[in-house]
Amino acid sequence: MKVTILGASGGVGQALSLLLKVRLPIGSHLSLYDIAPSMLGVARDLSHIPTEVKVTGFTGEDPTKALEGANLVLITASAAFTPTSDRSELFTYNASIIKSLVEKIAVTCPTACIGMISNPVNSTVAIAAEVLKKAGVYDKRKLFGVTTLDILRAETFVADLKSKDVSKVKVPVIGGHSGITILPLFSQAYEQVKLQFTDEEIEKLTKSVQDAGVEVVKDKAGTGSATLSMGEAGTRFALAVLKGLASEDIVEYAYVEGDGEYTRFFAQAVSLGRNGIEKVLPLGELSASEKIAFESLIPLLKAEIEVGEKYING
Ligand code: NAI
Repeated sequence: MKVTILGASGGVGQALSLLLKVRLPIGSHLSLYDIAPSMLGVARDLSHIPTEVKVTGFTGEDPTKALEGANLVLITASAAFTPTSDRSELFTYNASIIKSLVEKIAVTCPTACIGMISNPVNSTVAIAAEVLKKAGVYDKRKLFGVTTLDILRAETFVADLKSKDVSKVKVPVIGGHSGITILPLFSQAYEQVKLQFTDEEIEKLTKSVQDAGVEVVKDKAGTGSATLSMGEAGTRFALAVLKGLASEDIVEYAYVEGDGEYTRFFAQAVSLGRNGIEKVLPLGELSASEKIAFESLIPLLKAEIEVGEKYING
């Protein structure tokens, strides 16, 4: 399997590359691309780690060589970091980068799965879908917004609060990937048995998950975003997609185009297989307060999706 990372010399890209270098299956190929010339040094540095994963690095204006034969492309490319807490502001910076990279994917490896990490995910996934559609190669089973970090955070915060084994805690997180569009379903949280929370706990936990990215930026004193935890989240996502492609049954959460029941793209559980998404799974029962939060996030998420679609279609 060949995994390509576009934007691999950045904060998220480097953390993700490191973890994939040590965790990808034996015989995999990790292909790294960034416009920053430091990419070649980062690739050489990684290549000295003794695992059976081949690393190649590419820089320059054209990612074609990095993309040739890719099974999975992870996009972490982003304009120079600005300490903004507003993911929609990032849209202005990132839309053109995403458009041009996805145009290259459409030509070079049109059947690859794509994991969009670059923010604002709610809109960048819509940009990617429209670019692929225009090129006549869109397969909704193969395009994912990577929301795995929201899951990791929800599970970590619950394990801390309830003193549970974090490896066994499961918390669904649905909706989108910014502010109140992130909806953790604590009513469905479990660790062997269903976990119980007070209303106050749910309110606090929900806010912690929604604000987690902003808190990291604040604590890094405006010098960067969540790069290390995103490296782990991106790795978990990538390994799940690859297992699916290798015919293993696996369920993961991601922001995908389902049947449009809620919004065109929606973060939910999907079962993965040889063709990417095999099935979009139901949300399950929502509590009364989750239903209210769900109703409030829909218009916002719809608007953010439209921003991405309009960027391509005018
Ligand atoms: P960064 O600024 O450290 O890295 C971005 C990299 O992209 C840089 O190395 C830059 O040279 C490269 N780049 C810019 N234009 C490019 C192009 N046309 N082709 C290839 N590479 C290009 O940013 P960082 O911290 O790594 O974040 C990357 C993105 O991931 C951001 O949009 C950030 O908001 C997002 N992010 C998403 C998360 C999620 O949960 N989905 C969590 C954390 C970050």
